Parts: sequence; structure tokens; C-alpha cells
Amino acid sequence: MAKIGIYVGTVYGNALLVAEEAEPLLTAQGHQVTVYEEPRFSDWSSDGSQVALIVTSTTGQGDLPAGLQPLYQAIQDRLGHQPALRYGVIALGDSSYEHFCGAGRRFDALLQEQGATRIDRLLTVDAIDTPVPEEVTSPWVEAWGKQL
Ligand SMILES: Cc1cc2nc3c(=O)[nH]c(=O)nc-3n(C[C@H](O)[C@H](O)[C@H](O)COP(=O)(O)O)c2cc1C
Repeated sequence: MAKIGIYVGTVYGNALLVAEEAEPLLTAQGHQVTVYEEPRFSDWSSDGSQVALIVTSTTGQGDLPAGLQPLYQAIQDRLGHQPALRYGVIALGDSSYEHFCGAGRRFDALLQEQGATRIDRLLTVDAIDTPVPEEVTSPWVEAWGKQL
């Protein structure tokens, strides 16, 4: 069983709801889970979990929410290589924007560059056809947790 940190980036709260639904699903599988609403670098580096779940919406023009941007920047600036890290990404977005799910894709690209291993596909959730994201994310989270 894994120690999992869930790192949330949200503007209007949808991604936080997704994370809050994910936590008990993963706990029920025997994992130890912590949700970080405004994650700091110390949450990432001191966690020692080696398993991260990024749950983020996209804002602006493909940008990360302000609460998640500092963690992204710190990982980019201070960590070069994270080969032991396993992770997943749930990216909330809206396909009417040019950079669909840009924040989740950027986070995924950074962790790929640093040698981390993504478990399962990057999950994108389009607000246009999925008004209740948990209906899509919760089954995905259950499948993801079983692969850890
Ligand atoms: C001002 C604004 C900018 C947005 N920019 C993007 C974008 O560039 N790409 C995208 O896929 N979605 C974009 N979205 C859509 C949000 O990511 C989507 O509605 C998401 O579900 C919001 O989740 P949250 O409540 O966790 O912030 C934008 C929404 C707003 C209001």
C-alpha cells in the first residue's frame, strides 16, 4: 500500500471536490492519503510518499491556478530528477479554450522530464460534457489506486 499526496490546484473549487472524493476511495484501498489544498514545496519534499496525484484545473490561457503554481515552480527550480516518484494527473478544463487542460499537461510534462513514472493515462475532464467531474474521476481514481 502506498503513501499518497494529493496536490490540488483550483480556482472555483471543482478540483478540490474531485480530490475530496478521491481521498476516501484510496483510503478504502488501504493507502495512506493526504490532501494538500495549497501545496508547498515542503509538502512535496518532506512527504517522502513517492506517490503523487495532481488534481488541477486550468486558468487564464493554459495557466496553473495560483495555489499550485509555486509548487510547480519549486519542483522545476529545485528538483532535477525524481526517478523514484510515481504519479497520476487529473486535469480539469474546458475544450472551448485554446490550451485545453494546459495546467495538467504542463505538470505532467515536468514530471516526465524529471524521470518520474506516470501511472495510467493523463485524465482530462472537459467541463463542457462533464458537468459533474467526480462521475468520471472517481472510477478512474479507483482503477489508478489499484495499480500502485
Ligand atoms: C478565466 C478562466 C480561464 C480558463 N482557462 C482555461 C484554459 O486555458 N484551458 C482549459 O482547458 N480550461 C480553462 N478554463 C476552464 C476551467 O479549467 C474549468 O472550468 C474547470 O473545471 C474549473 O475547475 P476549478 O473549479 O477547480 O477551478 C478556464 C476557466 C476560466 C473561468
